[in-house]
Amino acid sequence: MASDKKQWLDSILLGDACKVLTELPDLSVHCIVTSPPYYQQRDYSTPVQIGNENSPEEYIGNLRRVFIQCFRVLREDGTFWLNLGDKYQDGALLGMPWRIALTLKDDGWFLRSDIIWHKPNAMPSSVKNRPTTGHEYIFLFSKGKTYHYDIDAVREPHVTFTPQSRMRGGRNHFGKTNGTPEEGKNKGNSNLHNGRWDQAFHPKGRNRRTVWEIALSKFRDAHFAVFPEKLVELCVLAGCPENGIVLDPFVGSGTTAVVAQRLGRHYVGIDSNPKYCNMAKERVLQPTLL
Ligand SMILES: C[S@@+](CC[C@H](N)C(=O)[O-])C[C@H]1O[C@@H](n2cnc3c(N)ncnc32)[C@H](O)[C@@H]1O
Repeated sequence: MASDKKQWLDSILLGDACKVLTELPDLSVHCIVTSPPYYQQRDYSTPVQIGNENSPEEYIGNLRRVFIQCFRVLREDGTFWLNLGDKYQDGALLGMPWRIALTLKDDGWFLRSDIIWHKPNAMPSSVKNRPTTGHEYIFLFSKGKTYHYDIDAVREPHVTFTPQSRMRGGRNHFGKTNGTPEEGKNKGNSNLHNGRWDQAFHPKGRNRRTVWEIALSKFRDAHFAVFPEKLVELCVLAGCPENGIVLDPFVGSGTTAVVAQRLGRHYVGIDSNPKYCNMAKERVLQPTLL
């Protein structure tokens, strides 16, 4: 039934992700952005919920089945952004994000980037024998050898090389005023480390780095930490063309759908909990709810 594009496009669908995804056609979405339930972290109150399995292997197996469906529905040039956090058990780190990332590599995904989501407002903890965790992972996977990635859409400000910097003009031009290939006396000088210039001094900013500092956001109605909109924004801007379709198989309160819609993309969200599905539906109708 949902195989008719019109029925699932820009919809929030209720049900088990693995099952609902079978109703989506092959190669039908451009980008997937998702944050699955973490291992033994929360109770999402549905019989089909993922996360409360008895062993890491069982949990990874269940996620893997969902991501095999994701692979099928993603276009050949599509991107998959997977947010995962780790878990301590008896004081020892499980390494869950990497266990999942390596499993997905085995299943044919190309792992392109391991992004550290640095949370400046992460929960304090009382641990005395290790640092307090202040990050999670965002893995960028592609399905094919080439894929859509809009580098310009997510550039960040230069840090070392600014117009004020002493490093104007590159390595051999330390301290020289007005010495950049873009302005001043060296303007247009093609000898100024062209390759390096393109990377370091791109007028729109430098290529985004793999550490993203984004504060946690709180959605008042949800019983879990929702995606910060900024985080989803970066994934969608880089990984989904305008008018493309973004899928979130664990859509929760609907952040991925809200951001996709705001950025001129289509969305499809899935969640097994009717309460969260309704919350997501309300949010896409009223994006300022947060
Ligand atoms: C970490 S939350 C997602 C939060 C979301 N990123 C947001 O911004 O609100 C994970 C979601 O997965 C849902 N979920 C758990 N098991 C599921 C399953 N088998 N199929 C679909 N959704 C499931 C839960 O109900 C929960 O809403």
